[in-house]
Amino acid sequence: SEPAPVICIDGPTASGKGTIAAIVAERLGYHLLDSGSLYRITGLAASRAGIELTEANAQAIADLVSSKVITFLPDQQVLLDGDDISLDIRTEQAGMNASQVATFPAVRQALLQVQRNFCRLPGLVGDGRDMGTTIFPDAPLKVYLTASVQCRAERRYKQLISKGLSANMADLIADLEARDARDINRAASPLKPAQDALHWDNSDSTIDEAVQQVLTWWEQRQPFAPVA
Ligand code: CDP
Ligand code: CDP
Repeated sequence: SEPAPVICIDGPTASGKGTIAAIVAERLGYHLLDSGSLYRITGLAASRAGIELTEANAQAIADLVSSKVITFLPDQQVLLDGDDISLDIRTEQAGMNASQVATFPAVRQALLQVQRNFCRLPGLVGDGRDMGTTIFPDAPLKVYLTASVQCRAERRYKQLISKGLSANMADLIADLEARDARDINRAASPLKPAQDALHWDNSDSTIDEAVQQVLTWWEQRQPFAPVA
């Protein structure tokens, strides 16, 4: 990593982090880190290798993901050792598996430097659960995005259907609440707003409004303090 300005966008599942982070990065010409995809890839790689996602296997899972070649291409395309796994990591099952492996400190440790290496000039927008609390604690702008459970479930439903993936509202709400609870209550880097985060409730705002708010906050941060 090199000293560069970082914007952190953290929040629970389907709060709009990924969408807003990607647009903000594009507008500013910054790099983008979709940290959740790394946990999704880790869960998928372990499942495919036949490794059960248990604490006893945490180190084996961390070693496995460290040995893999992960390639991020434009348009959210992701390759695992050359295989296109872009859609496989977007199912709700993959999200649940991700939140399981994300509780293992060995896995979080293995992914720490990988994430910091995304910090490059002219700047980075990091999307995740612990960008502001753990990965980039010195970031000059930390945004904590939220939205109501109902709103997040409806948005995730539409998103899954539009990708041709299956979805059911009752299951989605249950999964979302289970994943929130696991992310908030785990010991290792739990989901919580950084002390210096600015909060934005995305329930009644459009994507454009949220993007505009983040860009306005960013302008107010000038001159940007670089993060090493
Ligand atoms: O990355 P995260 O799981 O937080 O959420 P996302 O995938 O960016 O957003 C979930 C869905 O909500 C996407 O389809 C967004 O387009 C949609 N969304 C929306 O319609 N209005 C917003 N203000 C924010 C997100
Ligand atoms: O898009 P959504 O918020 O549903 O999921 P994601 O951002 O792709 O993250 C999937 C799972 O990975 C989350 O439920 C977290 O358990 C975990 N995760 C994490 O622990 N730390 C991060 N920085 C990002 C994701």
